[in-house]
Amino acid sequence: MALRQLARGTETCAVAWPDGYRAESVAEDDAEEIGALLLRVGHPLHPECESGTAAGAMYYVTRLFDYHRADRNYALALRSSTIVREASTGRIAGVCLVGGGGSGGDDFSIYYIQVDPVHQNRGIGTAMIRRALTVLAEAGVPRFHLWREDDARAASLYDRLGFRPTGAVE
Ligand SMILES: CC(C)(COP(=O)(O)OP(=O)(O)OC[C@H]1O[C@@H](n2cnc3c(N)ncnc32)[C@H](O)[C@@H]1OP(=O)(O)O)[C@@H](O)C(=O)NCCC(=O)NCCS
Repeated sequence: MALRQLARGTETCAVAWPDGYRAESVAEDDAEEIGALLLRVGHPLHPECESGTAAGAMYYVTRLFDYHRADRNYALALRSSTIVREASTGRIAGVCLVGGGGSGGDDFSIYYIQVDPVHQNRGIGTAMIRRALTVLAEAGVPRFHLWREDDARAASLYDRLGFRPTGAVE
């Protein structure tokens, strides 16, 4: 399936979390919880990771952190990444992982966004993206992009959030 690049300028936005959830920046210690979400939604893992196991899913996330730790803007990428938990149980409801790689180190994008299907359609995905736009704007990063598959649902969400195709396709 083709991946299309969408982009927009960053901006300080009002960020509202739905009742019953709390959100914070992602920390490397969250790898196990994020892995559990990947496992729950059946996200395909890298071939090096043992599929269908909590250890394999955690390794997949840890590997992502390992790979990017030396990026110049790694700390900001983690700060603009969000983990959302259900307040009553503390259980992960969604995650938005932002990467800040690229040759200049300012090429920020969404690496991975997932809301547990049980918690979808409550505004969590929207709020995580608006939070990333805000944290990056406050840090002076002008632009934010993502690559999306030809999925009509996510397309309307990104369009509503002001992301527009750049013409790049992979
Ligand atoms: C894409 C994804 C992250 C969106 O997360 P989400 O939390 O459901 O997103 P939101 O609730 O903010 O918005 C989704 C929809 O709910 C609606 N919505 C927003 N706030 C709402 C609320 N308070 N109550 C009810 N519906 C709401 C939005 O209008 C939107 O409608 P749409 O179907 O027309 O797009 C989620 O669907 C997901 O994890 N999908 C699988 C993985 C995936 O596709 N990742 C993206 C790869 S590019």
